[in-house]
Amino acid sequence: MATLADPDTDFSRLPDLPADVFTAPLAKPPHLGDDWLEPAQTDYTADDHQIWNELFARQMEVLPGRAASAFLAGLDKLDLSRGGIPEFGALSEELDKLTGWSVVPVPMLIPDHVFFWHLANRRFPAGNFIRTRETFDYIQEPDVFHDVFGHVPMLTDPVYADYMQEYGRAGWKAMHYNRLKALGSLYWYTVEFGLIEEADGIKAYGAGILSGPTEAKFAVEAESPNRIMLNVDRVMRTDYVISDLQPTYFVIESFDDLFRQTVERDFDRLYKNLAPGFTYANSAVIDVDYVVNRGTQEYHLRGGRGSGAAPV
Ligand SMILES: [Fe+2]
Repeated sequence: MATLADPDTDFSRLPDLPADVFTAPLAKPPHLGDDWLEPAQTDYTADDHQIWNELFARQMEVLPGRAASAFLAGLDKLDLSRGGIPEFGALSEELDKLTGWSVVPVPMLIPDHVFFWHLANRRFPAGNFIRTRETFDYIQEPDVFHDVFGHVPMLTDPVYADYMQEYGRAGWKAMHYNRLKALGSLYWYTVEFGLIEEADGIKAYGAGILSGPTEAKFAVEAESPNRIMLNVDRVMRTDYVISDLQPTYFVIESFDDLFRQTVERDFDRLYKNLAPGFTYANSAVIDVDYVVNRGTQEYHLRGGRGSGAAPV
């Protein structure tokens, strides 16, 4: 069966990258090997731990009732409320018992093919550094708070954990077809900004929503954004916003639904049929959509971030 990932790739070591595959030219710090892993986690200062605690407390004021139950359960299972930046070794031991995943430190954004390879081996690369007080509300590169608070609790859910591994394996297939942008859109609208239907309403499971100060309320409750049921073919053709709230969120029925929609699809055929670039704007509603809420787009029409528009 043709699937999201190529079943023949051996991920036990970093696979060779074919010469015709483009990867972003990131400069590897000289002390790192091909796996881009830091030999040890940073020695955080007392203030670093205090920043974590303040970020944690701020999120916990908005997330109950808005975050997916799997995320809140994951915070509990990993005892992430104990205070201070978690030590990756102890965190990985707990996570390994639950779903076989570990958390490994990286200095910065790492090349796509290395990131995919770690995911394929159930290792989640997490930023080693923590933001400063000057960048408390918004950071360009993912730090330890975004990566560990935002992403790791979801890895305690067995189906989601399998989805993330398949995603990593899928990355190698997408590179061969030169369709990383399309697969990146799937990551964006699920792993970073995904919503899920629960018995008592729509909740957030995407790390970009869960680790930020304003997006949980906006994504779950505001009138501006569209909320559309996830359709993988459609999402992979859809553009997205990097440095502002999303004009559109995609909603899954369950993690089983997400896993089935992606892993069991014929991605060879999909990649061969995808046009280069994106077909749909990030605020578009198209005739095949199953729309949960059609947004007013008021926030973005007023100019979005930088204009002072209220996230309503
Ligand atoms: Fe992230």
